[in-house]
Amino acid sequence: MTVLTTEQLDRFAADGFLRLERVVDDVELARLREIYDAVVADPGPLSIDHRTRESTKGSLLQIFVPEQRYPELLDTTFFTSGVQMAAALLDVEAERIEPRSHMIFKPASYGVATPWHQDAAYRPPDASERSVNLWLALDDAPVEAGCMQFVPGSHVGPIHDHDFVVESGSLLTDVKEAVDVDVSAATPCPVPAGGGTLHGFRTLHYTGPNTTDHDRRAWIIILRADQETT
Ligand code: NI
Repeated sequence: MTVLTTEQLDRFAADGFLRLERVVDDVELARLREIYDAVVADPGPLSIDHRTRESTKGSLLQIFVPEQRYPELLDTTFFTSGVQMAAALLDVEAERIEPRSHMIFKPASYGVATPWHQDAAYRPPDASERSVNLWLALDDAPVEAGCMQFVPGSHVGPIHDHDFVVESGSLLTDVKEAVDVDVSAATPCPVPAGGGTLHGFRTLHYTGPNTTDHDRRAWIIILRADQETT
């Protein structure tokens, strides 16, 4: 179980993201890889293949809520640590955190970049969501494989305008890119397999293309605090 230190909580509050050297142990990592590979081999209807015209196979495959098919995932350290960390970062009871995961698969050599964006851009403009994302690397994720990158402090700025991405003349379905943002302070967060990152709802982030000779399997949990009902 990963428990965030006061220093980590302070750093997240200042930067809008955190790098985690280790989130799950080797035993759980092996099990998560098995499930991930089974889901990628049979993505089912809850998936989007953001393919480009040049690429006939999925150059950016996204698969949603695999925990519906594998409910055992809810009991993994990945999920339970995520819930605890989100509760600490959002300062709510763990029972108030709702986890919902998705996978983003970037195949070796031709996985494409995920453009700079804020997750808030994917929600209705009036959404008052409080959430953090836990991004887990199932493979070593150096910059060249498409590790997470963040703009420190962007989480306290505005929600920027975003456009849908047109790449090499073909639309990447449902992928948005922030318009006119300064990413000169971008901070890459390379992590080993089993490590990951946390980021906020408004934190500007990006992952590069995968130019390595191994797949980049990433698994993300959106950890949302439910709304106050009092
Ligand atoms: Ni995102």
